[in-house]
Amino acid sequence: MINLVIAIDGPAGAGKSTISKKISKKLGINYIDTGAMYRAVTYKCLEKGVDVLNEKKVIEICEESDVDFIDNRIYLDGKCIDKEIRMQKVSANVSNVAKIARVREIMVKKQREIGQKSDVILDGRDVGTCIFPDTKYKFYLNASPEERGRRRYLELKEKGENVVLEEIIKDIERRDYIDSTREVAPLTKAKDAIEVDSTNMTIDEVVDYIVKKVKES
Ligand code: C5P
Repeated sequence: MINLVIAIDGPAGAGKSTISKKISKKLGINYIDTGAMYRAVTYKCLEKGVDVLNEKKVIEICEESDVDFIDNRIYLDGKCIDKEIRMQKVSANVSNVAKIARVREIMVKKQREIGQKSDVILDGRDVGTCIFPDTKYKFYLNASPEERGRRRYLELKEKGENVVLEEIIKDIERRDYIDSTREVAPLTKAKDAIEVDSTNMTIDEVVDYIVKKVKES
C-alpha cells in the first residue's frame, strides 16, 4: 500500500460519514462511504420486490449491479441514488444484505480497487479489520446508543421522514447486533485502532483529534 488510507469504523449513527467527509476536505483526499454500497444493493432489492432474506436472489441482484462513486455520489446502474439509499426502509433491511458472504466479496473487491487509486478515507464496519488491515491509520468511532439514535432521528426528520425516536434507537441496536454477530467480517474494533467516544464531543472536536493523530504518526 503506497497511498494514505484512513479507516473509520464503528456502529450505526456514530457520526462516521459526517466526520469522514470533513476530514477528506481538510486533508484534500478522497472519501468512500462503504455502507452506501451495501445500501445501494439493498435499495435495488426493495425496488425489485426481492426479499432480502432470499440470499440467492440478493446475490443475483448484486452480481448484475454496477455500484460506483462519481464525485462522492453513489451511482447504481448509472443513476445517482444518494437520497434513496438514506430512506429508513433501506436502513431497516441493509444488515441482512451486508451479512451475505458473496455480497461482501464483491463489495470489498470494489472498495479495494477504488481505495488503491489515491489517498483516501473510508468509513464502514470492516475497513481496518478486513478491507485495508495493513493501514496504520485506524479509528473506531463510538457513542452511546441513545446519542446515536438521537442523531439519526434528527437527520431523518430534517429530510422530512416521518420517524419515531424509539423506533430509530431500536433499529440501530438491531442493526449493530446483526453487524457484530455475522460470520463474515463482523463489526469489531481492530486491535490497533484508536477508539474515539464521540458522545460528548462536537463534530469538529472529533475531526481535529483524528487529523492530529494522523499527522503525528
Ligand atoms: O454506514 P451505514 O450505516 O450507512 O451502513 C449501512 C449498513 O451497511 C451497516 O449497518 C452494515 O450492515 C453494512 N456495512 C457493512 N460493512 C461496511 C459498511 C456498512 O457491513 N464496511
